[in-house]
Amino acid sequence: LRENTPVRYDEHRECWDVFRYEDVQYVLKNPKLFSSERNRAGTSMLTTDPPKHKQLRDLVNQAFTPKAIEALAPRIQEITDELLAPHLSGGRMNLIDDLATPLPVIVIAELIGVPATDRREFKEWSDVLVKGARDDSEEAFQELEKEKLKNIQELYAYFTDIMEQRRLKPQDDLISLLLDAEIEGEKLTEEEVVNFCILLLAAGNETTTNLIANAVRILSEQPELQEELREHPDKVASAVEETLRYYPPIVAIGRVAREDIELGGKAIKAGEQVISWVGAANRDSVQFERADEFVSNRKPNRHMGFGFGIHFCLGAPLARLEARVALHTLLQRMERIHLAPETTLEPIQSAFVFGVKEYPI
Ligand code: HEM
Repeated sequence: LRENTPVRYDEHRECWDVFRYEDVQYVLKNPKLFSSERNRAGTSMLTTDPPKHKQLRDLVNQAFTPKAIEALAPRIQEITDELLAPHLSGGRMNLIDDLATPLPVIVIAELIGVPATDRREFKEWSDVLVKGARDDSEEAFQELEKEKLKNIQELYAYFTDIMEQRRLKPQDDLISLLLDAEIEGEKLTEEEVVNFCILLLAAGNETTTNLIANAVRILSEQPELQEELREHPDKVASAVEETLRYYPPIVAIGRVAREDIELGGKAIKAGEQVISWVGAANRDSVQFERADEFVSNRKPNRHMGFGFGIHFCLGAPLARLEARVALHTLLQRMERIHLAPETTLEPIQSAFVFGVKEYPI
């Protein structure tokens, strides 16, 4: 597709697909031509364009700078150790349920300011937020929509309650920070604060889960890489980066054309949907040598696993740190990691997410 139809219109899905590195980058770096605004319930920075986008993003930027995130390393290590403790005597561990899912959920819950006692409920809400339909039927789809609506209502009620508590007694957490924040002299509405929290859950949890799982998948496929990283823990960070290129958790990013645009010799009309295939761009041999090989120490590595341009992933430093700690700890505590025998890998049912449902090790 990248070579033969680098930009193409799909009649069935009624959208444009963009596959080449250069073209994907062009789409993502031109928000004036390709808008992120979508008709979704609730606005967030992910679905707004400049200038509103920058105002929203600036509110939380300080909480997500590499420096602020690095300070979380000891706590992330502690959570990882606790989650791994029951699995260190050998035997089988369900990587996804036992580590890759709970780790980002617990970290984000603590950042937002969810009390530890509410964590179980919180995880359930967080799971439903990104849940896929049971099968392809219309009935399954309707059922899921209903469940999601109920879930959002419960999350709203829950966060409204926490907001009341933080108004009375601010804490060192994101909810308190957001309640205090102002855009052009105006406070955020309660709805905006809740939307913010929901965005962080939806954008940050399943993606980080898949990054950890996809990285462990590569490690178990390449025992010699395990050895190398065990001996040289400083190389774990570049292996995480290469995972984001080779097996990116998000493989496609959507935009809408704002005006008639020519791209790759094709005429895109205003209002049409444009899907940028990061998964294809990340394997483009014009940009990457040995593009279809996992090169754990690849430098430079200008993958677009976290997107590109003004919407570049806000949580990238956090996701990188969690993945680094998780991999490093697994490698140090386990002599040899391999996929449990007779496991059939099942892909997550989604056009945008790349990962497997279960990964027993
Ligand atoms: C944006 C991927 C983890 C919060 C994005 C985008 C991508 C992405 C591709 C760009 C979307 C676009 O251009 O429309 C990932 C991956 C992750 C990850 C692969 C894990 C491996 C996180 C985490 C958080 C987070 C942990 C927060 C706790 C966000 C937010 C945005 C975003 C708020 C919107 C930024 C904006 O619109 O300016 N992410 N993400 N992400 N991500 Fe992540």
